Amino acid sequence: QASVAGMAGAAPNILGTLALGQTTAGSAPQPIRVDIDSRRRLAPLDRNLFGSFLEHLGRAIYEGIYDPGSNLSDANGFRKDVLDEVRKLGVPIIRYPGGNFVSGYHWQDGVGPKADRPRVLDKAWNTTDTNQFGINEFLAWSKLAGSQPLLGLNLGTGTPESAAALVEYCNIDKGTRWSDLRRKHGVADPWNVKTWCLGNEMDGPWQIGHMSATEYGEKATDAARQMHYVDPTLKLIACGSSNTNMPTYLEWDREVLEQCYDYVDAISLHRYYDNSKETGGASSKFLALNLTMDKQISEVAAVCDMVRGRRRSPKKLWLSFDEWNVWYRARSGPAVDGNKQTAPHLLEEVYNLEDALLVGGLINSLLRNSDRVRIGCLAQLINVIAPIMTNASGLYRQTIFYPYSWALQYAHGAALEVLVETPPTYDVEGMDPVSYIDVAGTSNPADGSTALFVLNRDLAKPRQLEINWEGQGAGQLVAAVVLTGTDLKASNGFDAPQKVAPQVADKPVTNGNRTKIEVPPRSYSVFQWGKAV
Ligand code: AHR
Repeated sequence: QASVAGMAGAAPNILGTLALGQTTAGSAPQPIRVDIDSRRRLAPLDRNLFGSFLEHLGRAIYEGIYDPGSNLSDANGFRKDVLDEVRKLGVPIIRYPGGNFVSGYHWQDGVGPKADRPRVLDKAWNTTDTNQFGINEFLAWSKLAGSQPLLGLNLGTGTPESAAALVEYCNIDKGTRWSDLRRKHGVADPWNVKTWCLGNEMDGPWQIGHMSATEYGEKATDAARQMHYVDPTLKLIACGSSNTNMPTYLEWDREVLEQCYDYVDAISLHRYYDNSKETGGASSKFLALNLTMDKQISEVAAVCDMVRGRRRSPKKLWLSFDEWNVWYRARSGPAVDGNKQTAPHLLEEVYNLEDALLVGGLINSLLRNSDRVRIGCLAQLINVIAPIMTNASGLYRQTIFYPYSWALQYAHGAALEVLVETPPTYDVEGMDPVSYIDVAGTSNPADGSTALFVLNRDLAKPRQLEINWEGQGAGQLVAAVVLTGTDLKASNGFDAPQKVAPQVADKPVTNGNRTKIEVPPRSYSVFQWGKAV
């Protein structure tokens, strides 16, 4: 028995004997054999697989990245410490301005002289938006942060015409109504925004302008057509189901694509993982939830391919997993109601160690599906369900910052088809047997390096892996980091910013084409090796 990347579990051994890696009470677990073959690469990794998201919500924009009154801000009002942190993190693409917010947003309110911009009531989060930060501020900020923009369009109260006008405002050089307006607003060069989301979660009854799949598919088609008249090079993402529990899950995606398949490049997936309703608080189940991301990806991809087949289309859509994270605590009541304030404290989820371990698992899932998923957005980036939290005097890193930053730092080249042989498993109700070990890998042909990303879901025991290098052997070890601890509920805060922080991992030992690694219980580790000589 073998499973790719620790996804599915081993079937029971028909001889009734213990499979490799299983244990008798008290004996040390056997090493789990993992085959790595640098020739078995999936498609090249799109850097945008590990993007993020900033919505006009709570303190993400105002007081988060933009705080003109702060002595930590520059002349534009951008918080310098936050900008530095995002730049160092190397976030490749950032979705903006929503989220639910975008479905009632009029982009023209946020451009032009700041003194003339209206204060408006955002009905998605019951918050007052001063519009002091808008499209031009975001595009200038993201350029400074070294990120590409992923702009969301209002297909709730907004029209296809106003979506196309925004493309004209952003991407046409001069000589037309909207491009000349941009110039009048002091931005001479076009921004050339390439990738756009055609609305947000339009299947959700909570969404401003919620409509049926057919209505949305027709509206998205019209918007896409008009936008392509302005700029035929755009990449467009249709709104897929907003989570796997929607009664219309997959049916929505199918119907939307029946309408707009020929006009779009991708469809969106969203999902937030919950350690309460979904798991009853059972950590072993929670740490297996990334496997439901693999499942969701394959289900949505199957729908895309079904519609493609029916249309006999040569075009294969890719997937944009443009909202994903753990989120279940700050999800109701005052945590989601802005009470008509500006920059209220909303969705300020405090993340603990086990949340970070699952985020590591979710990164593994994205990696092993990177032949289909080109954009992924950790939702969100600052203050709102975020890896980075700010106050008036600084910032700190939440636990989930670390696995996310490791994906950005170590995942290069292409994902590997990692083979975990006969993984020991445990049972979780409603799921296939779950492997204790979840491994993803990348191999970078540009410099010959290899990285492995290892989640140990075992809450009690360390696990030993024996890496069997096929093709290229192991080069010199260049990094070995781990996030672990005895208290799964431990979290960071301004008072204890380093309570959960990366440690140096036990050094793997290589002998010929075999490497032995031990990972501690409750851990997420990354190992990187240079080019083999
Ligand atoms: O990220 C928070 C919210 O979650 C977004 O506004 C919405 O798209 C999703 O439901």
